[in-house]
Amino acid sequence: MSFPTIPIQTKRPLPKNCSFSASDWNVLSSFWHPVALSSEVKDKPVGVQLLDALVVLYRTPEGVNAARDVCMHRGAKLSLGSIRDGALVCGFHGFHYNCEGVCVRIPALPTGSPIPNKLRLQTYLCAERYGFVWVCLAEKPRASLPDWPSIENGSGTVAVVPPGTWQSSAARHVENFNDICHVPWVHTGTFGGPETPIEPYDVSVTDTRLSFQADITERVRYTESGAGPTYRQAVYSYELTLPFASSVKVLDPNTSHVYRIYDIASPVSASCIRIFQVVVDESRLTPAEALIDFTMRINAEDAPQVESQSPDQLPLDLRDEIHIPADRMSIEYRRALARLGLGAQAVS
Ligand SMILES: [Fe+2]
Repeated sequence: MSFPTIPIQTKRPLPKNCSFSASDWNVLSSFWHPVALSSEVKDKPVGVQLLDALVVLYRTPEGVNAARDVCMHRGAKLSLGSIRDGALVCGFHGFHYNCEGVCVRIPALPTGSPIPNKLRLQTYLCAERYGFVWVCLAEKPRASLPDWPSIENGSGTVAVVPPGTWQSSAARHVENFNDICHVPWVHTGTFGGPETPIEPYDVSVTDTRLSFQADITERVRYTESGAGPTYRQAVYSYELTLPFASSVKVLDPNTSHVYRIYDIASPVSASCIRIFQVVVDESRLTPAEALIDFTMRINAEDAPQVESQSPDQLPLDLRDEIHIPADRMSIEYRRALARLGLGAQAVS
């Protein structure tokens, strides 16, 4: 197996007060990350933070655009401004910027005077997909967006969960999402089944994804049965797109019902993330509102545990924490992050 990847293109300056090491920031900034719901970016600019960088999102007739949240004139935040005539307008002096970040109008400038060429925003790559706005801070992304056709192909009820903020690192959250061992202990009020040993399982590893499958005894999701607590055997199929995008397909072999959860941890900083989630109920048994409510209850069970972890950064040196056979996925995830170049001192 080889892990050839596109060389990292970015050597952009680190954000002020960057909480990541320079090498980790350069690796992570070369990937796409969701930063907002599409529905959040309408007729006003929106300020977000990604990898400690302050970014303004603004919708023009060309689509959603992203730029450094700083006006080139006097350094004010553009997210305090407005959208007017299809342009991003600074709220301080009214400088207008188009979809490419080029200043196209300065209200105080006498008619016919040229606009200085230097009045051009630092723009970022921006895309809309799966109900999210995605940003890549590098000049060229190292990988494409995750491939999640069931969100878009009309195969079921699709629910976009309101993003939550966790005081944790992205990798700690991702490891938890893909950890089958914690389910009977943490998810006692939602889908956790009885305490059972975890049979050994294999993890499939490529240069961009990790995947594995496990048979799980889970509590029947109240959203599907309306009753409970009763238990059922389900097949969980996990797929993790590096570095922080996960999905799990939950299949009930007896009914063929399929339920999918998509989860991305977006790194606001090294120790703070925003969680973006979509749930797809392919059997259309549950209204979207109930899917959202159930997922938020699951999150509320997970967050206190993950936010309590010390250190808050995921140790990529496997000698730094103790592992059991059920941690196979966690071990492979840590190795994969180290292969990406994260954790300068990591040993795989
Ligand atoms: Fe969990």
